Amino acid sequence: MANDLTGKRVAFLGAGKMGGIILQALLKNGLLSAESTCATVAHEERAKALAAKLKVKVGTNNVEAAKGADIIVIGVKPQVVEDVVREIAEHITPQQVIVSVAASVPTAMIEKNLPPNVPVVRAMPNTPCLMAAGMTAVCKGKHASAEDVALTCHMFDVVGRTVVVDEKHMDAVTALSASGPAYIYIILESLAEAGVKVGLPRDIATLLAAQTTLGAAKVVLETGDHPALLKDAVTTPAGCTIDAIMELEEGKLRVTLIKAWSKRLSEPRNSRLAESHCAYSTSKEVAGGEGFTS
Ligand SMILES: NC(=O)c1ccc[n+]([C@@H]2O[C@H](COP(=O)([O-])OP(=O)(O)OC[C@H]3O[C@@H](n4cnc5c(N)ncnc54)[C@H](OP(=O)(O)O)[C@@H]3O)[C@@H](O)[C@H]2O)c1
Repeated sequence: MANDLTGKRVAFLGAGKMGGIILQALLKNGLLSAESTCATVAHEERAKALAAKLKVKVGTNNVEAAKGADIIVIGVKPQVVEDVVREIAEHITPQQVIVSVAASVPTAMIEKNLPPNVPVVRAMPNTPCLMAAGMTAVCKGKHASAEDVALTCHMFDVVGRTVVVDEKHMDAVTALSASGPAYIYIILESLAEAGVKVGLPRDIATLLAAQTTLGAAKVVLETGDHPALLKDAVTTPAGCTIDAIMELEEGKLRVTLIKAWSKRLSEPRNSRLAESHCAYSTSKEVAGGEGFTS
């Protein structure tokens, strides 16, 4: 089966927050066994702590970890990716698959530092993967096959939903769903503050805001209805919801969110990082119809 991880050896280079979430979820769900999995971090003491916690082999030697692995997940910070790829390059063969979760690092940059024809897949998860409610976008590099993409999706399906997009959409995805939880937490915090302002205990106000956010998202996902239609169903003519909506419109909530997202997308860090590695050009288009979800 294309998406079967059984018997695959997987090395996580950089098992920090994101790498650690994916690694733990795959172990917990039985998709990987402790024997077939290893990981690296930068610091010895963290390696020891992680090995004790996860009961897998964790070290600081990327070459040792990468040798003989079928899938190598790169989970280091974007600015460290090139060094790590160069470090392992001479031990990598086209029979292995490289999966990078690094933001703003094009597959072309990774490919150019590896021997010819090594498959590279890029994945962009988000922190709700921790609760198996994540959103991960996946795209293929030049040498990756449909099977490599399916296998990557299978890994990330364990921590939420996955969508396959063209690489030109990856920066837009990063700005929307990878940074997105931060925007939502601010909205959620503000709703809870509103509850506190009118006398609700903070824990109850936070519960009301969080469950409402979860419920509204679930309705959008499960009905497929346009959010505007769903909003209309809550908005009784001459009721109090429309008064609140008027305040939101006056406060320019929509345009503020759209502008914040666009600013995140065009932030110099993205282009600087990409330019410093290769002449790959990124697109500012929003992910379009060619993607599919699983
Ligand atoms: N956090 C997010 O919301 C998010 C979302 C999507 C994608 N990502 C991507 O995920 C990647 C990691 O982000 P993060 O938030 O998980 O960062 P992080 O918690 O700092 O994890 C980075 C890990 O890399 C290890 N490391 C550093 N240099 C290394 C080296 N030379 N060899 C092996 N391991 C090394 C660090 O080891 P020590 O622990 O010993 O320092 C740490 O465990 C980034 O590329 C980011 O773009 C993050």
